[in-house]
Amino acid sequence: MGMFEIRPFVREQAAELEKLQVLCEEEMGWDPPPEYLEEWIKTVIGLHRQDSNLTKVASVEGRIVGYCLSVKKLHNYEGVVMDVTWKSAYVWDLFVRKECRNRGIGTALLKDAFEYLKSVGADKVGLLVNYGNENAKTLFEKLGFRLWSHFLVKRL
Ligand SMILES: CC(C)(COP(=O)(O)OP(=O)(O)OC[C@H]1O[C@@H](n2cnc3c(N)ncnc32)[C@H](O)[C@@H]1OP(=O)(O)O)[C@@H](O)C(=O)NCCC(=O)NCCS
Repeated sequence: MGMFEIRPFVREQAAELEKLQVLCEEEMGWDPPPEYLEEWIKTVIGLHRQDSNLTKVASVEGRIVGYCLSVKKLHNYEGVVMDVTWKSAYVWDLFVRKECRNRGIGTALLKDAFEYLKSVGADKVGLLVNYGNENAKTLFEKLGFRLWSHFLVKRL
């Protein structure tokens, strides 16, 4: 595998990025319906239009191998209202193709996002990681993330 580079996503990559998102969801054990994907890519394009630094892709020889999507302010992300003085950003999605893992791409995508989010005034960054996703958890802990809260769900 050649060297990777990290660049802002461009609109022409929408279909390619959507395919990667399908791989990501499938790996999490979910077959995403078309309406989900439509909504997902609309959100990505919206974020990109707002600030292209929030939608970064990692590529190798012109092919997308990973992406990181973030938001500058957790409290006004998609209508979530929290303490507006809380300067926390949020990493919304992070994925690297299986065959390209353990080469530092995920770390590079995250560090790129942190640097930018810090430069625009964020003093913390949050993310959600599933129970059982030990790989990702280890990586996040190595990068300084600590458990902040438990997200509880009850089946109805
Ligand atoms: C989580 C994920 C993005 C990590 O991507 P990645 O590109 O493999 O990440 P890195 O290569 O930077 O780091 C992975 C491991 O490789 C190690 N590593 C980093 N650079 C390396 C290099 N140059 N050579 C060898 N190992 C390296 C890291 O130390 C890390 O080890 P650790 O997990 O024991 O701490 C990827 O596994 C993934 O897409 N998983 C599925 C989706 C997912 O779980 N997303 C996050 C949920 S919020």
